Amino acid sequence: MKEQLEKIQLAASGEIAACPSAADLELLRVKYLGKKGEITAILKQMGGLSAEERPVIGALANSVRESIEAALAAKRTALSEKELSARLLAEEIDVTIPARLVSIGHRHPISTVLEEAVDIFLGMGFSVAEGPEIEYSVYDFDKLNIPWGHTVREWSDTFYIEEDESVHLRCQTSPVQVRYMEKHEPPIRIISPGRVYRKDEVDATHSPMFHQIEGLVVDKGITLADLKGTLDAVMKKLYGAHTSTRFRPHHFPFTEPSCEVDVQCFVCGGSGCRVCKGEGWIELLGSGVVHPKVLAGAGIDPDVYSGFAFGMGLERMTMLRFGIEDMRLLYENDMRFLSQF
Ligand code: DAH
Repeated sequence: MKEQLEKIQLAASGEIAACPSAADLELLRVKYLGKKGEITAILKQMGGLSAEERPVIGALANSVRESIEAALAAKRTALSEKELSARLLAEEIDVTIPARLVSIGHRHPISTVLEEAVDIFLGMGFSVAEGPEIEYSVYDFDKLNIPWGHTVREWSDTFYIEEDESVHLRCQTSPVQVRYMEKHEPPIRIISPGRVYRKDEVDATHSPMFHQIEGLVVDKGITLADLKGTLDAVMKKLYGAHTSTRFRPHHFPFTEPSCEVDVQCFVCGGSGCRVCKGEGWIELLGSGVVHPKVLAGAGIDPDVYSGFAFGMGLERMTMLRFGIEDMRLLYENDMRFLSQF
């Protein structure tokens, strides 16, 4: 029995030393120390020993078991350290590798100019109103004093949705004026930015879809002077304090009198250049004193109230602002173009 125990001790220490993994080590523990293990088997035979032999073999068996336990524990530690360092090596991160660049986008130039303009108007006490892009012809035309037979009502100019010409894609933001006046009492001070649609061929200065910013002020005693003062202040904020404005007589069915507003070319200062096409002035928007018929049609008494209105093209403002010469660039989503702004 003594020899058997010594053999077990020797075999166990050899196998434990050579054991490659924690899982194999557990198998060894079961093999030697488990309930059906080799040491247990020896201990079970102790009944057949003499009274003198029993304590000697018992003590030896205990010491063999303890030494196997110690060897297992030592190996377990060694294996887990080895596994840890192998894992650390495998999961090593090289912090010196250059990081992948995260590219953060930015506003489209049209949005930049829109936000600037909205900010200026908000600062002057305006609020922002919205209207639908699919509009009743009654709002886009009739209530704006655009009579039957007017050129903008031609099929060749307007995207009609209904055969009877009662619904179409709005061709201007002006119908928002009427919609707002029908629901609100003066004083009114709104702008309304949005998309508009016209049957235009795409070229450097035309697109079948573009953006306008509409404006409307209605109160007691509003005159052309308020229109001039307001738009002059807005242009100075948008294009610089030295910017001059010029008001030219024009015609719009929904304003009387009507005018177009030009700003003195902020590139050449009025002497004439490529941007202003040698004119010294750049046409920016249409405006006027709201026609009494339009006020009355929207339920506002023109004998008590008066107002002014304006509409400007956002693409044009953006192109002038950034010196962009072809409107198509604004819609092509070419990163080489957009990343310049
Ligand atoms: N709706 C006009 C257009 O698309 C622009 C305009 C002119 C708007 C005069 C107005 C205005 O509100 O009073 O050409």
